Amino acid sequence: MTTSMNPDELKAFQLEIAGGIPTPLPEASPRSASLSHAPVRKDILTPAEKELALRNALRYFPVETHPVLALEFAQELKDYGRIYMYRLRPKHPVFARPIEAYPARCQQAAAIMLMIQNNLDPAVAQHPEELITYGGNGGVFQNWAQYRLTMHYLCQMTEEQTLAMYSGHPMGLFPSHKDAPRVVVTNGMVIPNYSKPDDWERMNAMGVSQYGQMTAGSYMYIGPQGIVHGTTITVLNAVRMNDKTGTGPAGKLFVTAGLGGMSGAQPKAGNIAGVVSVTAEVNPDAAYKRHEQGWVDHVVTDVEELAKRVRRSVEAKEAVSYAYLGNVVDVWEEFDRADLFVDLGSDQTSLHNPWAGGYYPAGLSFEASNEMMAHKPEEFAEHVRESLRRHADAVNKHTARGTYFFDYGNAFLLEASRSGADIMNEDGTGFRYPSYVQDIMGPMCFDFGFGPFRWVCASGEAADLELTDAIACEVLEDLKKEAPAEIQQQMDDNIRWIKGAQANRLVVGSQARILYADALGRMKIAKAFNDAIAQGRLAGPVVLGRDHHDVSGTDSPFRETSNIYDGSAFTADMAVQNFAGDAFRGATWISLHNGGGVGWGEVVNGGFGMLIDGSADAERRLTSMLHWDVNNGIARRSWARNEGAEWAIQRAMQQEPLLKVTLPAHADDGLIADALK
Ligand SMILES: NC(=O)c1ccc[n+]([C@@H]2O[C@H](COP(=O)([O-])OP(=O)(O)OC[C@H]3O[C@@H](n4cnc5c(N)ncnc54)[C@H](O)[C@@H]3O)[C@@H](O)[C@H]2O)c1
Repeated sequence: MTTSMNPDELKAFQLEIAGGIPTPLPEASPRSASLSHAPVRKDILTPAEKELALRNALRYFPVETHPVLALEFAQELKDYGRIYMYRLRPKHPVFARPIEAYPARCQQAAAIMLMIQNNLDPAVAQHPEELITYGGNGGVFQNWAQYRLTMHYLCQMTEEQTLAMYSGHPMGLFPSHKDAPRVVVTNGMVIPNYSKPDDWERMNAMGVSQYGQMTAGSYMYIGPQGIVHGTTITVLNAVRMNDKTGTGPAGKLFVTAGLGGMSGAQPKAGNIAGVVSVTAEVNPDAAYKRHEQGWVDHVVTDVEELAKRVRRSVEAKEAVSYAYLGNVVDVWEEFDRADLFVDLGSDQTSLHNPWAGGYYPAGLSFEASNEMMAHKPEEFAEHVRESLRRHADAVNKHTARGTYFFDYGNAFLLEASRSGADIMNEDGTGFRYPSYVQDIMGPMCFDFGFGPFRWVCASGEAADLELTDAIACEVLEDLKKEAPAEIQQQMDDNIRWIKGAQANRLVVGSQARILYADALGRMKIAKAFNDAIAQGRLAGPVVLGRDHHDVSGTDSPFRETSNIYDGSAFTADMAVQNFAGDAFRGATWISLHNGGGVGWGEVVNGGFGMLIDGSADAERRLTSMLHWDVNNGIARRSWARNEGAEWAIQRAMQQEPLLKVTLPAHADDGLIADALK
């Protein structure tokens, strides 16, 4: 709480945050040895581009500092492949403070600063000193000058201004109006023909573009709980779908990979779902960190011992999670040799970023891989391709025996296919395995409007989070009484989740919560929060938001829109419409990104943040914006002839007479075939 914060520290923090780029410059100091650092990026720039990178970095600073900084930044570019401007790291510890700690001229700006700091908090962020929140390359800013300048602008901003954020760079404050977004964020928006992974490497190294992932570059990441919930829903429903014997989850085996930012949620979700899970992880820091945090029960380093212990757990029908410290390909191959039946399989290595540390190839140690990707990138890429072919072969052996394998939105199937792996279906028109959105998230959640609604209590008080949990639960229980059969399971899963949320101790960083709700649920919960703020039951305002991985925010043909079958999966109108529509309906900030989840060039996604403060204005905005923010996507999914969405949009039109959506007519199959004869 601000009141309990040391007044001197608070003052120093406020001065530093408002001060922008300091003069004189702070002393240079080495990178922290105790924090995880981003992998060294490959040396991709031509000599002329390196000059540009340096010139670009120096434009943030007065010319008299250039002689010192030019040498320092040139060295950073050489050592790390990027210019992070480590010297500019702030003296204040970075974490989400209570909203009143921010020296702002409007509360909306203070809320945005709170969320930015949460995304860079070392307890939350993956590589905090490189300003990377998750996913290996999901950046909030490209360098520390951008952080300082952005905070400076936000401290000055009034409700008559909007800050334009170009891929981490604060272009400036522009006059606008009270109902406009305070910040408009774009990340990685490029001319479509220049959207290959190496284009990102080049533009990011020159300091002109960044990969914002989904919630990193939009300041809406809330730590691993965001993903625990989605992963639990996915694993629960995958188990339900594959419970052919009706015996439930006990004794079912789930094999996957990745204990990183998002993937680290898999073992916890496996435990909540009641299965035996094995998650391979090559990075010892990641594996032991998750073990220490209690997210995975056991770490095993020998693959044969792993097979034996797993067999015993399956037989004993335990709900238990194993981390295997090593390559996932070795697990699939060993379990095949040991004749161990795997019920469910997936993968959450970071294949959206295959050449720069997202995927570690089998047969190469972790250290050797890191060395090779920085210094012999072509050779490393060949190892990755070879490993993906081997990986797919091993998975195929299991699925031939009945394993249900699904792509977990990490571009596994896409990159495996590009590597020539045996992963295509018989007629070669698509992949042999579904994505989790095709089979699970799409038809069960997104088509009905259910998605990852979230909120952050800006007071920073745990009591506020507890009260919002209780309010949300009450709203859902009320809605469930009237809810049609089609969405009862969704309501049940989320009521159970919110009831267990406090006990599961999911908060890392800000006082945040996530649950899946449809438009009506989101609007009613948000309105109930707004009332509670107005009544003084909550100590402070609340920030509403969501993951971009949602009904309407993301066009991603290999993930969020992989269950769109009318040929429009490769269009991005929905995400762009969503961004624009949220802006003029009252969002406090909005973001639109190229890349996120499945990789640069593969997806366009957007999101919002909205501060609600108990006012009538807040109620007007939340009602208008949340309604659009969900129903836009349902309308598009319905137009694509998705059954659940056709049902959901008609229900939405009955609830809101101002909503008028074009509905599809279904042509007869025989008629089409005859017409084309
Ligand atoms: N959880 C979700 O719901 C969800 C949804 C969509 C997409 N994803 C995708 O999942 C991927 C993972 O996300 P993240 O935030 O956890 O990324 P991350 O980079 O933090 O974690 C991935 C982990 O995989 C490990 N790894 C890489 N290759 C390996 C191998 N061959 N064997 C064993 N371990 C290996 C890495 O060491 C790393 O710790 C991303 O591509 C993300 O977009 C997750």
